[in-house]
Amino acid sequence: MTNPKLYCIGCGPGDPDLLTLKAINIIKNADIIYTPTAREGKPSVALSIVEKFLNKDTVIHQLIFPMIKDFNNLKENWKNNTIEITNSIREGKKTVYLTVGDPSLYSTWIYIYKEIIKEHKDIEVEIVPGITSIFSFSAEIKTPIGEGEEIIGIIPACYNLDRLKIAAQCCDTLVFLKDGRHFNNVIEILMNSGFPEDSDIFIAQDVSTNSEALQKRKLSEISRNPNENNDKYFSIMIAKKKK
Ligand SMILES: C[S@@+](CC[C@H](N)C(=O)[O-])C[C@H]1O[C@@H](n2cnc3c(N)ncnc32)[C@H](O)[C@@H]1O
Repeated sequence: MTNPKLYCIGCGPGDPDLLTLKAINIIKNADIIYTPTAREGKPSVALSIVEKFLNKDTVIHQLIFPMIKDFNNLKENWKNNTIEITNSIREGKKTVYLTVGDPSLYSTWIYIYKEIIKEHKDIEVEIVPGITSIFSFSAEIKTPIGEGEEIIGIIPACYNLDRLKIAAQCCDTLVFLKDGRHFNNVIEILMNSGFPEDSDIFIAQDVSTNSEALQKRKLSEISRNPNENNDKYFSIMIAKKKK
C-alpha cells in the first residue's frame, strides 16, 4: 500500500503557459485542490493561473492565510489548515496544494510543510517546482540576475533596514519582493551602501499577466522622483549595482 501523499504545485508567476507539464498533469487528476488566499472571498491568484486545466469534478477549497503579525494566531491558522488538508489525504483523495511562483520561496506552503513533518509524519510529500517571479521578470527585461562572480541578495520587503545595508554592501544584485510600498524607502540605503547613482533599477507589477507593468530607471532618478506606482502587493524590484 502506498503512503498517503500531498502534492504541492508551484504555479509560476501568472501566465498559465509557464506551468510545467508535471504541474498540469497533477492538477488535471486532482480530487481536491487547496489554494491559499489572504481573506474570505478574495480570489486566489494561484487558482486563477491553473483555471483552464481544472477538471470539472475536482473540488476547490480556499484556505485563508491572514496577513497578520500575531505569531500565535498564525501558528494556530497553519495548524488548522494543515489538519484540513491532511484529513482529505487520509480519506483517500488525490490532494493538491497550490502556490504562486515556486513553493520554496516565501510561500504559505512552507508553513504547511513544517506542520506536516512535525505532526503528520505518515504523509508523503511531492513538491513540483515553479518558475519564480524573479526569473520571469529577468526574462522579460532580458537582464541577468547573476553573472560570473556576482552575488545576489533576495530581500522580502524591507522589514529590517540594518540587514538590508549589509546586503547592499555585499551584493551586486538585489531583488526586492513583497509589498511594493516599501520600495521607495530603500533607495537612500542603496545610495549610501555602494550602489552608484547610475545603477539600473527595474520595477514591475503583475509580471507575466495581462496587467503587467514594467519600468527601468536609474537609482538617482528614483531618488529625485520617488516612484508612485509601487503600491501593489504583486510588485518586484531588481537593483543592479553599476560596475
Ligand atoms: C509571498 S511571495 C511569493 C513568491 C513566489 N513563491 C515566487 O516564487 O515568486 C509574493 C511576492 O512575490 C512577488 N511576486 C510573485 N508573483 C509576482 C508577479 N507575477 N509579479 C510581480 N511580483 C510577483 C511579489 O513581490 C509578491 O509580493
